[in-house]
Amino acid sequence: MKTLVAYFSYSGKTMACALAIANELKADVREIRQKKEYKGFSVYIFGGRDSLQGRTVELVDPNFNLDGYDTIVLASPVWGFSAAAPIASFARGCDLSGKKAVILLTMDGTPGKAVEKLSKIIVEKGGAVAGDVVVNRSRKSDEEVVKEAVDKVVKLIKGS
Ligand SMILES: Cc1cc2nc3c(=O)[nH]c(=O)nc-3n(C[C@H](O)[C@H](O)[C@H](O)COP(=O)(O)O)c2cc1C
Repeated sequence: MKTLVAYFSYSGKTMACALAIANELKADVREIRQKKEYKGFSVYIFGGRDSLQGRTVELVDPNFNLDGYDTIVLASPVWGFSAAAPIASFARGCDLSGKKAVILLTMDGTPGKAVEKLSKIIVEKGGAVAGDVVVNRSRKSDEEVVKEAVDKVVKLIKGS
């Protein structure tokens, strides 16, 4: 069984979780990056809007081959009550036939319909959602956030 941890992170919190999960699972890891990154305050306007409205954004190296992976962890912050546009765009560009996907979201308020919206994309692309983990960072240290994410995601993957 080979796992890929694909993550998008703007301010590093999701990245810390994704790297720790990959390390624990001895999984491959891939950062999803946008061609035109959101900068400064525009992230709140355009990043939030693109995510909420389900817009597809252009990615660096979008044609990533998932052959050989049977499980994909899709890790992202919640933006605009949705998974961030870059990770949703990545999922839309993937062939997930026969693959299991685990969703990891970090946020500090409310996730809205983020899990449901990303799950719908995964299923449309042929994948099966093996589970989701939503970590609320509020009132937690960075270490607690990473530990919660690793414990829950690893348990889901090893138990599925
Ligand atoms: C543009 C934008 C929109 C956000 N929207 C939400 C939201 O709808 N709900 C929420 O709980 N947190 C929201 N957040 C907070 C992030 O989800 C949270 O800080 C996340 O853990 C950051 O992850 P990162 O460091 O990997 O980028 C938003 C942050 C940004 C920058």
